[in-house]
Amino acid sequence: MKNVLVTGGAGFIGSNFIHFLFDKEPEVKVVTLDALTYAGSLENLKDLPDASRHTFIEGDICDREVVEDCIRQHRIDTIIHFAAETHVDRSILGPAPFIQTNVIGTFTLLEAARQFWLDEGGVERQEIRFHHISTDEVYGSLEPDEAAFTEETPYTPNSPYAASKAASDHLVRAYAHTYGLPITITNCSNNYGPRQFPEKFVPLIIFNAQVGKRIPVYGDGRQIRDWLYVDDHCEAIWRVVKDGREGETYNIGGNNQPTNLELVELLCAILDDVLPKSHFAPHKNLITFVADRPGHDRRYAMDISKIGGELGWEPRENLESGLRETVDWYLRNSEWVDSIEKQPSYATWLEANYLNRGEGS
Ligand code: NAD
Ligand code: DAU
Repeated sequence: MKNVLVTGGAGFIGSNFIHFLFDKEPEVKVVTLDALTYAGSLENLKDLPDASRHTFIEGDICDREVVEDCIRQHRIDTIIHFAAETHVDRSILGPAPFIQTNVIGTFTLLEAARQFWLDEGGVERQEIRFHHISTDEVYGSLEPDEAAFTEETPYTPNSPYAASKAASDHLVRAYAHTYGLPITITNCSNNYGPRQFPEKFVPLIIFNAQVGKRIPVYGDGRQIRDWLYVDDHCEAIWRVVKDGREGETYNIGGNNQPTNLELVELLCAILDDVLPKSHFAPHKNLITFVADRPGHDRRYAMDISKIGGELGWEPRENLESGLRETVDWYLRNSEWVDSIEKQPSYATWLEANYLNRGEGS
């Protein structure tokens, strides 16, 4: 790991990963390739400890020329591929960009890597790694008593987002099987933490609660997710890239199973605690049930015994400690919050997703 290409490094997990990597690997050089969609921001990459080790390229992973130039010029040996369209609700309202970025973009990256690494021998084979970041959503939805997803669980993606990620996973696997590209894949559960765009549930709750806006809970609020603090995810990725077995998939998760309603109530209690003078406390009074997400997966849970057994990874944060860190970050970074609230496209999104939504059950 000398010259690392991080795609999607201006987004939530990618930017947290770059901060993490700079801390852990003082020699490594990082090139970030990011199209700066609504979800990406250079704000997320300011304050890197040693900016001379970082190059930012604004570009689309679907653009073969840009991707090829970047890999060749920087003699990239490791690709860590985060770039994606990531929000399930957006994929329901408009799936086309998900197919473009998640499927065609991943294919374009794989082709460019195959050409430089395997056809041209641009980097020694033992130095190469293509690491693909994926999601638990490819496995579908679990019944209440069903065992957690393992790496052997058959793929049953239910949303356009999940289907596009499943397609990208299959492409990555096929490039390993057919061309011998050295790959690893991680499938992770729901992340939360600093720098997450407030279309996702946790930051949306924090944004809305602070200003006394309603907290929209889909359906009956009894859906279950497996929540992981983002730094724990970054550490797991780092361990897999360094020591994971070539060609393998590793599941990553937080070992917790709250319902969405339990998660909101915990977050509201934390906000009551840290903002005791808020006019909107108790914040749980802001909870409003709204119409469910179409095709909403009921439950996800990850079996993380493979990564634990092989690489000794387990989450450091529990749900409450991670949520407290997260609330603390959003309260301390009001400029970041303001910059998003001022984006007209954020208001447009809130209107599209929530304005004409009916009541929940
Ligand atoms: P995000 O939406 O916060 O950021 C995505 C980044 O990709 C943005 O910076 C965006 O500008 C960039 N991007 C989008 N399209 C691009 C394109 N065509 N070319 C170049 N850059 C492009 O996403 P995130 O939540 O940080 O997720 C990162 C990865 O992790 C994704 O692959 C996602 O599927 C996966 N994942 C996310 C979660 C989660 O809970 N957020 C959980 C498991 C897996
Ligand atoms: O499971 C991993 C996935 O987690 C990632 O692959 C996705 O990129 C990421 O967006 C996330 O998907 P979810 O759909 O689970 O996350 P989201 O934060 O959108 O929603 C979490 C849960 O909260 C889900 O059950 C839907 C519910 N929800 C969400 C929003 C935005 C609500 O009840 N109200 C809301 O307003």
